[in-house]
Amino acid sequence: MIFNRVWAMPNSETFSVKPIGEFVKKYLRDSSCSVDPFARNKNWATLTNDLNPKTSAQYHMDAEDFLKKSFADGWRFDLAIFDPPYSPRQISECYKEVGVTVGMKETQSAALYARIKAALIPCLTPRAVVLSFGWNSVGMGKKHGFEQVEIMLCCHGAAHNDTICVAERRVAAKI
Ligand SMILES: C[S@@+](CC[C@H](N)C(=O)[O-])C[C@H]1O[C@@H](n2cnc3c(N)ncnc32)[C@H](O)[C@@H]1O
Repeated sequence: MIFNRVWAMPNSETFSVKPIGEFVKKYLRDSSCSVDPFARNKNWATLTNDLNPKTSAQYHMDAEDFLKKSFADGWRFDLAIFDPPYSPRQISECYKEVGVTVGMKETQSAALYARIKAALIPCLTPRAVVLSFGWNSVGMGKKHGFEQVEIMLCCHGAAHNDTICVAERRVAAKI
């Protein structure tokens, strides 16, 4: 497993942080069909989505509904990018931006991540790679049949949290 630590200024557009953008592009080069359900304005993947209609993503749906629709439409991805809001506060801000009032249940990061991962798994090919970004290195995890390929800590200085970048490969697909 590759483990690396880099330094770069923070940016709310995660992949505009140079080493993080390079991390994503490295895996995109080996992919023939990719998905980014939380894309914001980064239309790097084959299929992109973001809840916020002001972004340039191809679809503007809740990520779970978008992935269920992609599966039903027959899409299968060898690379998935998982860059959701990182905290309950960020989740709440995202919903506020699109004018949706939500309660505590919807703003729990663990609950959001669990429902999106459950919808993502059926859309993945048996050896798919998932890139996860956030404040922990949980990723898809062994539970879902993934092994870690690479972890990159991106330190942003001062009292900022690192952005933790995780690449995992699916090794035990239940087909
Ligand atoms: C961390 S940002 C993604 C940044 C992007 N990767 C970049 O490099 O610019 C998370 C995005 O998820 C979107 N989002 C939040 N909740 C969502 C949901 N339930 N479904 C789909 N998109 C959502 C937000 O609008 C926000 O643009």
